Amino acid sequence: MKVLVFGANGQLGRCLLPKLAGHDVVAATRAEIDLTDTQAIAPFITAIQPDSVLNLSAYTAVDKAESDTELAYCINQHAVAAMAQACATLDRPLFHVSTDFVFSGNQSTPYSTDAPCQPIGAYGESKFAGEQAIAQYHPGRSVIVRTAWLYSDVGANFLLSMLRLMRERDTLGIVCDQVGTPTSAYSLADTLVRFLDSDGNGVYHWTDAGVASWYDFAVAIYEEALARDLVPTGVKINPIFTADYPTPAKRPAFSVLDKSRTYDAVQAPKVHWREELRAVLDRLAGQ
Ligand SMILES: NC(=O)c1ccc[n+]([C@@H]2O[C@H](COP(=O)([O-])OP(=O)(O)OC[C@H]3O[C@@H](n4cnc5c(N)ncnc54)[C@H](OP(=O)(O)O)[C@@H]3O)[C@@H](O)[C@H]2O)c1
Repeated sequence: MKVLVFGANGQLGRCLLPKLAGHDVVAATRAEIDLTDTQAIAPFITAIQPDSVLNLSAYTAVDKAESDTELAYCINQHAVAAMAQACATLDRPLFHVSTDFVFSGNQSTPYSTDAPCQPIGAYGESKFAGEQAIAQYHPGRSVIVRTAWLYSDVGANFLLSMLRLMRERDTLGIVCDQVGTPTSAYSLADTLVRFLDSDGNGVYHWTDAGVASWYDFAVAIYEEALARDLVPTGVKINPIFTADYPTPAKRPAFSVLDKSRTYDAVQAPKVHWREELRAVLDRLAGQ
């Protein structure tokens, strides 16, 4: 099967590509196609004639999106719309990744796939607009997988930022009133590969299992990293409130996703986030 992957050089792309070894993969990075040139997207897809298209690209700078809104919409909505239209014309499935930021975060129980979307910032709004474009142009053969709190040993993410700060500082203050699920980009990659081989259609949710605040995640990172000699002893991690750490973009206070539809559709295993964290830190420690 010939799979065209957009965003192949991002965090998720780099974790996923090795898992597609059995497929004929066309890995599209910015060097092959700049997605701001939305007119070029359909001819690019048509020339490749893929069996399926996997879109891992996105404008992911949540805070910058508040001021760089046009570019966020260009990548997260208009480029996605062009992919959906081209896939519809060729009658090929489109697999797309979206985000917990489509929700307001006002709920206190896990968000189901049909919960109302009410983004509270430009990034979430632009990602939701991308979802709507897929629903408009290619409703019959598209899979949208919403995920949250992605990290890995590559790219820019909370885990790598924490490890750096733990080496640089004695004390860290980490937000304790935002709750979600840390999710290994490798486990999401496994789930996306399952979707590629399935006949799924519509919106799905995927994160690792369990719940944590960013503070809980940071404490777990420290304990597991210390056990692997990746950070120095004696770093103090203090819980702080969101109000004490102002950012340009608001974040959902609660973004736990209900994964039942994914469990049913592709039988993806339910693995606790801390077990996945250990596996990623083992990679970093070279074990
Ligand atoms: N990271 C998270 O915590 C998180 C949470 C929820 C959902 N998601 C979603 O998960 C997906 C993967 O995220 P990620 O963490 O892998 O993001 P990432 O590391 O920022 O990767 C995004 C990719 O998009 C590419 N891209 C951006 N603008 C482009 C352009 N103009 N032309 C061509 N390529 C362009 C980037 O290319 P360059 O490498 O050249 O910059 C990069 O490869 C995204 O859909 C994101 O919205 C992420």
